[in-house]
Amino acid sequence: MSQNIETVLTEDRSFPPPPEFAEQANVTPEQYQQMWQRAKDDPAGFWGELAKSELDWFKPFTETMSGEMPNTKWFADGQLNACYQCVDRHLTTWRKNKAAIVWEGEPGDTRTLTYQQLHHEVCKFADVLDKLGVQAGDRITLYMPMVPELAVAMLACARVGATHSIIFGGFSADAIADRNNDAQSKLVITADAGWRRGKEIPLKANVDAALDKSPSVEKVVVLRRTGADVTMVPDRDFWWHDLMDKATPDRECTHVDAEHPLFILYTSGSTGKPKGVLHTTGGYMLGATMTTRWVFDLKDEDTYWCTADIGWITGHSYIVYGPLSNGATTVMYEGAPNWPDEGRFWNLVEKYSVNVFYTAPTAIRAFIKWGDQWPEQYDLSSLRLLGTVGEPINPEAWMWYHRVIGGEQCPIVDTWWQTETGGIMLSPLPGVTATKPGSCTTPLPGVVPAIVDEQGNELDANQGGLLVMTQPWPHMLRTLYGDHDRFVDVYFAKFDGKYYFAGDGARRDEEGNYWVMGRVDDVINVSGHRLSTMEVESALVSHEQVAEAAVVGFPHELKGEGICCFVTLKTESDASDEMKAALKQHVRTQIGALATPDQIRFAAAVPKTRSGKIMRRLLRDIAAGRESAGDTTTLEDYTVLAKLREDE
Ligand code: WTA
Repeated sequence: MSQNIETVLTEDRSFPPPPEFAEQANVTPEQYQQMWQRAKDDPAGFWGELAKSELDWFKPFTETMSGEMPNTKWFADGQLNACYQCVDRHLTTWRKNKAAIVWEGEPGDTRTLTYQQLHHEVCKFADVLDKLGVQAGDRITLYMPMVPELAVAMLACARVGATHSIIFGGFSADAIADRNNDAQSKLVITADAGWRRGKEIPLKANVDAALDKSPSVEKVVVLRRTGADVTMVPDRDFWWHDLMDKATPDRECTHVDAEHPLFILYTSGSTGKPKGVLHTTGGYMLGATMTTRWVFDLKDEDTYWCTADIGWITGHSYIVYGPLSNGATTVMYEGAPNWPDEGRFWNLVEKYSVNVFYTAPTAIRAFIKWGDQWPEQYDLSSLRLLGTVGEPINPEAWMWYHRVIGGEQCPIVDTWWQTETGGIMLSPLPGVTATKPGSCTTPLPGVVPAIVDEQGNELDANQGGLLVMTQPWPHMLRTLYGDHDRFVDVYFAKFDGKYYFAGDGARRDEEGNYWVMGRVDDVINVSGHRLSTMEVESALVSHEQVAEAAVVGFPHELKGEGICCFVTLKTESDASDEMKAALKQHVRTQIGALATPDQIRFAAAVPKTRSGKIMRRLLRDIAAGRESAGDTTTLEDYTVLAKLREDE
């Protein structure tokens, strides 16, 4: 039996950068080669020079990189402030009156903050934090809608040296309480409610319920967003606008050490309680700044839109810190892509003349399902670059994105990274790399990956194995908050501290392109062959009647594991035994007999986490006929799960 992951997906299409794009790109092929080699041979020299030229320091650092993985520190004796980097330093340039944040609320209300206006708001809110007794190093929970005040609150925390912990607005009271307790948060910043598909999400009520179980929290600041009725507890709860009315706008930045914690962001592990990924100031800011410039090719004239929620790492690095550090104009949209109709995103692209657009494969598959008539109603010709993140993109979705949204003109950057890596690690550079549908292609400068087997031996081209990082980088996580042992155990113990283990399976082709196959927990073993469920999903989704598919293994007498496919059809009424047979045959033809599905189950939707990842743990239990006892706080829609059970 082979220990390595077998790869069955072959994709030969290749799209070189359009010459007009390459001509104006921030990075040329020669520069990329030179930077990548330099960073590999001399990481301290490479990152040290960039940190000096690209970050503003109150106190320069003298030591670039110290300590061995996993305890590497960067720029440790230097002092800076992430808020200064994102806001203040632009005020002495022509960007002072440039739009920093262009925002649209779900109901259609709009607001634009220039760098100067953003500075004014942030300084005032930093003064509010001072007056509430916040000290440098305190943890503050943010549970807010996607409104400009969320960015203001983040930057104000950074300004006073407090560590923010943002909780996505879809999480429940229990999830908030767990995170408050783990971080020992002192203050919660929230809103009365948020808008989602025209309905109000009761944020303050959720916080109230959470606070019954989170004793560390002393005070709550409440932004009025929807006007919903809320209960204000005297001496504990304060309206944002009351505090801001009394605030002064001249709060300077606290000088913090480069290794000072900037934020904690909770992410789910395969088991147990969420992990509090901790990022520090200097290294994270350098990573966010450089990767934004390299990958998104940002120009001062660009309108840049990342559709993620700020409650996820993508929003931290690529709506707020990376774009603002670069002095860019970043678009922020509050609501759902299908409100009031399925054309909303394309309406926004046209209205704001968006040039660079970054979204997720799960969104792209939804757009495909909703139909081409939505994007076709709008002028998308301002777009010059497209990006995706979050999961492997199936080639058919990639091709649709390329054709229908990009008009076959825009390079697509498929960016592989993680909450833990802080910034993009593997991605095409749009003026350099020939892209291939489904591949995140090559490592960025400073990233030295390898594909290894369980023993840590490097594998040859096209052999599937485990994706590891062999060198430290400035923007990597420093610890899991309050649990350094778990940090070492999850990411470094597997290879005796030598490598960072990402938890993903991948292969590298003979040209050096990486193909990520998903989490290794998603790998199934069929008749002694380890298969990536994602490749079977990709084959299913390439069938013209399939909208979405989730594939898991289940215990099988003869094969070890059988293949169970949950399939959402474009038209529900097409579900039939004939369709099941056709889909099995389709996978067989696409991949081979080995991958023939044992079970096909039709589902109206598959259960997903709030960030759009399929909850395979739950599907595995359903496939095996087990009850699920696991944590479901990150489930997108409980009714989806109930429905799958009923359909059994
Ligand atoms: C997956 C999101 C393939 C991967 C920034 C990773 C991807 C996990 C890609 C991290 C991609 C993310 N291609 N897989 N372009 N991007 N992933 O922490 O399994 O929410 O380990 O960070 O998402 O998810 P996280």
